Amino acid sequence: VSALPAIHRALIMPAAGEALEFVDRPLPVPGPGEALVRVRAISLNFHDLVNLMGLLNGPTFPWPRVPMSDGAGEVVALGPDVETLSVGDRVMGAFHPLWVSGPPTPEAKRQCPGDTGDGWLQEYLTFPAEALVATPAHLSDAEAATLPCAATTAWSSLALGPVGAGDVVVTQGTGGVSLFAVQFAKALGAAVILTSSSDSKLEIGAGLGADHLINYRTTPDWEKEVRRLTHGKGADLVLDLGGEQTLPRSVHACRMDGTVVIAGVLSGFGAAQLPVGYAMTHNIHLVGVTVGSVEALAELADLIADHDLHPQISHTYPWTELDEAVRVMRANEHVGKIAVTIP
Ligand SMILES: NC(=O)c1ccc[n+]([C@@H]2O[C@H](COP(=O)([O-])OP(=O)(O)OC[C@H]3O[C@@H](n4cnc5c(N)ncnc54)[C@H](OP(=O)(O)O)[C@@H]3O)[C@@H](O)[C@H]2O)c1
Repeated sequence: VSALPAIHRALIMPAAGEALEFVDRPLPVPGPGEALVRVRAISLNFHDLVNLMGLLNGPTFPWPRVPMSDGAGEVVALGPDVETLSVGDRVMGAFHPLWVSGPPTPEAKRQCPGDTGDGWLQEYLTFPAEALVATPAHLSDAEAATLPCAATTAWSSLALGPVGAGDVVVTQGTGGVSLFAVQFAKALGAAVILTSSSDSKLEIGAGLGADHLINYRTTPDWEKEVRRLTHGKGADLVLDLGGEQTLPRSVHACRMDGTVVIAGVLSGFGAAQLPVGYAMTHNIHLVGVTVGSVEALAELADLIADHDLHPQISHTYPWTELDEAVRVMRANEHVGKIAVTIP
């Protein structure tokens, strides 16, 4: 580790809806239980688009603040009492730093970097040591930065089945969460049905292991195709990422006593037309997910290492080109993740 600078650069959101600005700030000093991380990469999530629009506003969201929930880099200094990390360790930060393990609680989910305080879009940040997870050795920092939100959400969702060998999983679209779900479900021995708006994106999903591909533009009643592919039975677990428009179809795509994970809002935040009779008579388990714990991130990092998996990243930009990265994501031109490096 080279000598640490006295000041470093951060990209801040000055106030709700205002453009990001580069600022120089004093280097933070890690307090008890904290590590100082030289950030090397962040990744974009749908969540970050919402944040950059200034929609996360109110008493728990301070201004100005540094956005971005997901980042990875190298430990360059440690607070006085940190024994679990060493200077030089490559790490990634958990989405909910206070949620170390166990079931979700309001206290565990109280903090999110980039929302409730400064996030990862800066050269250096201090972070609770117990919320940093070792980067799998075969991954670059840009790859590691794609894991905290999207991969943890996919992992936590599959754990709600729990998905195992021989199961059938449906996942929606070719965004970050969905393509991690493809990779993890395959690693767990399940078969995967992947939906997308695009045949060419579906081919990338097939390359990651998806067994059956459905274009939801040309096959709008894709839940019927899921039932046909599963010989009328339905899928064991449906990862619903569309929300308002897709949830009713996801319930119909699910087998008796199977699980529909309510994880996304890609088609809208509003009320979904839940097929109550079907859900009741088919004993459907409807369960919401919000990312997951530090422990979940560590578990999926182990799986990624054991199976030599690499995240699907379609675009990588330096942070000076963040605007273009955001444009690509808004236009849904990406497949899997978009990474942003902080050289
Ligand atoms: N609950 C949680 O803890 C949690 C955590 C992370 C993300 N999320 C949510 O999960 C969703 C996905 O997040 P992400 O970061 O993976 O997003 P993303 O990478 O931006 O995914 C975008 C992709 O989703 C697909 N899509 C868009 N509209 C769709 C629709 N109506 N039906 C099916 N697919 C659609 C499109 O792929 P195709 O062109 O291939 O269809 C699009 O390219 C978001 O709603 C996000 O808020 C929730």
